Amino acid sequence: MSDKIQAIRGMHDILPDRTPHWQHVEAVLRRVMAAYGYREIRLPLVERTELFKRSIGEVTDIVEKEMYTFEDRNGDSLTLRPEGTAGCLRACLEHGLLHNQAHRLWYSGAMFRHERPQKGRYRQFHQLGVEAYGMAGPDIDAELILLCRRLWRELDIAHKLELQINSLGTVEERLAYRGKLVDYFRAHFDRLDEDSRRRLESNPLRILDSKNPELREVIEGAPVLAGELGDASRAHFDGFRKRLDAAGVPYAVNPRLVRGLDYYSRTVFEWVTQELGAQGTVCAGGRYDGLIEQLGGKDSTAVGFALGMERLIELLDEPERFETAAHPHAYLIAAGEETELAGAQLAEAWRDALPALRLQTHCGGGGFKSQFKRADKSGAAVALILGEDELRNRTVGIKFLREEREQSTLSQSELISFLRTII
Ligand code: HAM
Repeated sequence: MSDKIQAIRGMHDILPDRTPHWQHVEAVLRRVMAAYGYREIRLPLVERTELFKRSIGEVTDIVEKEMYTFEDRNGDSLTLRPEGTAGCLRACLEHGLLHNQAHRLWYSGAMFRHERPQKGRYRQFHQLGVEAYGMAGPDIDAELILLCRRLWRELDIAHKLELQINSLGTVEERLAYRGKLVDYFRAHFDRLDEDSRRRLESNPLRILDSKNPELREVIEGAPVLAGELGDASRAHFDGFRKRLDAAGVPYAVNPRLVRGLDYYSRTVFEWVTQELGAQGTVCAGGRYDGLIEQLGGKDSTAVGFALGMERLIELLDEPERFETAAHPHAYLIAAGEETELAGAQLAEAWRDALPALRLQTHCGGGGFKSQFKRADKSGAAVALILGEDELRNRTVGIKFLREEREQSTLSQSELISFLRTII
């Protein structure tokens, strides 16, 4: 026998007993997106490598060591998308959607990062991404937060998530800050770990994001970016906070929140949970006005976020209820060739009459006993039984599989009314 081929490490199958959880979350996401006027955009999984280098930043973890990059048969360097913001902007620029226009968009799907897999961190994972273009003020930043809050409420997980916010200022403000930060960390060079020493030259802001507990103290003493913000950035951040306050959204200002992608400016935020251990960031995003010009577009503005579907689903309480909700309502048992033929036709008529009915008909033969076993395993509430007697008398036997109720018989003409009561 040959060896079995297994899935790639960090890339998971989502089996049928888990897909109901996903479908539930996806249905809520769609509803909430529509409630705020966001429209879906569908994007390729593969883009030119250059797109991610130019947008996410050459000296970020993602671009330096996590991308799935390959040469295609034409010799072009392509990359499996590690995130959706760059591709979404590329598509909108390419199709002229950004010129003097405002758009509210969302996308969902698989993203790929060659990270070290652990709970909550995978090499193929799924995001819902939301991007809003052409709106410069803090009103749209706040709208994204309200949209998130509604998602958490509808999914019953609002009590598990906390909002952290910060402002990264403009590119110029960040440069001034960067200088001060490098001076500070140089003065404390002996206290930095290897990773941070390397970042000191390439991307010193990321040192603030280090998860190494030995660095906590030196990071806490570092200067904060808030001190470098100019009037316009400060006003934007104040306007954002004012709107969150007015809507009663609690948040913490975290001056160390810097994000792992380079394209952000001004508002950044993360929704974090204590329930998922080290991978506690469920949703993250911010404003990235400068990226449009960087990718060859005209001056416009952009803000967005993405949430990790695996992490979000992990937070759901009693997820089994979604699986139960997807079980068939009824399972049709029909032993013998003649009854099976008649059963298949009856089943079609019932499905015609009741489009919401979830009815499984037994296939694959076997006696009553083995068919009952399958009926039970299917999770159906009711077994419908068609034997030779029932066929002759134009009746159907009814057996409740999850309740102590006596088996009964109904005429075939009454059956649709009965089925309506169990949908
Ligand atoms: P990000 O912070 O890289 O931002 O990812 C957003 C979310 O995706 C994370 O908070 C996390 O929930 C999930 N995620 C990231 N990597 C993994 C992984 N390896 N396994 C499981 N889940 C993961 C972005 O991707 C930006 N494009 C967000 C954005 C949109 N900013 C503006 N617009």
